[in-house]
Amino acid sequence: MKSFTESDLLKSLPKQFFASLVDKVGKVMADGHDVINLGQGNPDQPTPPHIVEALQKAAANPKYHKYSPFRGYSFLKEAVATFYEREYGVTLDPEKEVAILFGGKAGLVEIPQCLLNPGDVVLVPDPGYPDYWSGVALARAEMAMMPLLAENGFLPDYEGLKEEVVRKAKLMFLNYPNNPTGATATEAFFADTVSFAAKHNICVVHDFAYGAIGFDGQKPISFLQVEGAKEVGIEIYTFSKTYNMAGWRIGFAVGNESVIAAINLLQDHLYVSLFGAIQEAAAVALLESQQCVHELVALYESRRNTFIHALREIGWNVTAPAGSFFAWLPVPTGWTSEQFADVLLERAHVVVAPGIGFGAHGEGYVRVGLLTSEERLQEAAARIAALHIF
Ligand SMILES: Cc1ncc(COP(=O)(O)O)c(C=O)c1O
Repeated sequence: MKSFTESDLLKSLPKQFFASLVDKVGKVMADGHDVINLGQGNPDQPTPPHIVEALQKAAANPKYHKYSPFRGYSFLKEAVATFYEREYGVTLDPEKEVAILFGGKAGLVEIPQCLLNPGDVVLVPDPGYPDYWSGVALARAEMAMMPLLAENGFLPDYEGLKEEVVRKAKLMFLNYPNNPTGATATEAFFADTVSFAAKHNICVVHDFAYGAIGFDGQKPISFLQVEGAKEVGIEIYTFSKTYNMAGWRIGFAVGNESVIAAINLLQDHLYVSLFGAIQEAAAVALLESQQCVHELVALYESRRNTFIHALREIGWNVTAPAGSFFAWLPVPTGWTSEQFADVLLERAHVVVAPGIGFGAHGEGYVRVGLLTSEERLQEAAARIAALHIF
């Protein structure tokens, strides 16, 4: 069979670091071992029943068997506005300041293509969610890394960025609660971000994927809560984590009107909007009781407490995450993150994600997802203890 070569654009895409991890895990599982996989970010709980029921009912509605309106149903955009007002006190114009997305990932990858020309510079958190890199590559733009260091609470230090980089930057990605570090942002940091972005003409994209997941009674703040934020950027929200709807592929972007217009324009060319029944069920998720969200956060917090406690008991000096469902754990001295993750996989059959997969400043850490039961998390800690590394 004839083999067609990939375009230069596809060839320029970043290599998927975690693909090799999946292969390694597959081999250990094929050998019949009981693997505890803490390496991924796939929520383990089902979608709350009232949302599933709303989808089941809506799926029977012939109206939704036709094409949806290109930019999504107004009822969903209005539900988004109601949700932001209720949760964050942020007022949004549903038609001008809300864009419906096929999941947060789609929006994050689209934005560089919406706003950048080849060679433009994007400020990207390091460590960070690797899909930011994909969007930058597809736009043929350049990345400039913003180190997230423990001593700064894993917030970027704008003062420390090189002047020439800042001058060229047109876009910046931020993400709090943060994947992979579990750090949360402060209002003061977001206020600094607004001033910095306004001064240098940078569009801020705040990825609020873990917006619902804050611990110790601290609700994570929305970037749009901060004065002037809408002037300089947008926020991306997803149903994947708040409502365990990762398989449904739905999210939205909110904020700056010109950026929302650009996203809508690109999407007019790429897709027709999502299945209407999914949009209806998503509106139900936003508008009805949030008890399921409170219960989910309590579940993650309890897992966090159990796991962090178990690791400290075995002598691993770890910091508890303030939000997200990840724990960011320092690798013992003398190991790279990949070597350490390999040993945990091969000798304890516990999968963790090596920090280097999230960027150069991820070296020295591994990421654990709190996405299994407390019993399994304790079992993972016990297996690690048995290696006598700590
Ligand atoms: C930081 C971050 N942003 C965005 C996403 C994308 O979520 P989705 O595409 O399911 O909305 C994820 C998912 O893992 C994530 O960790």
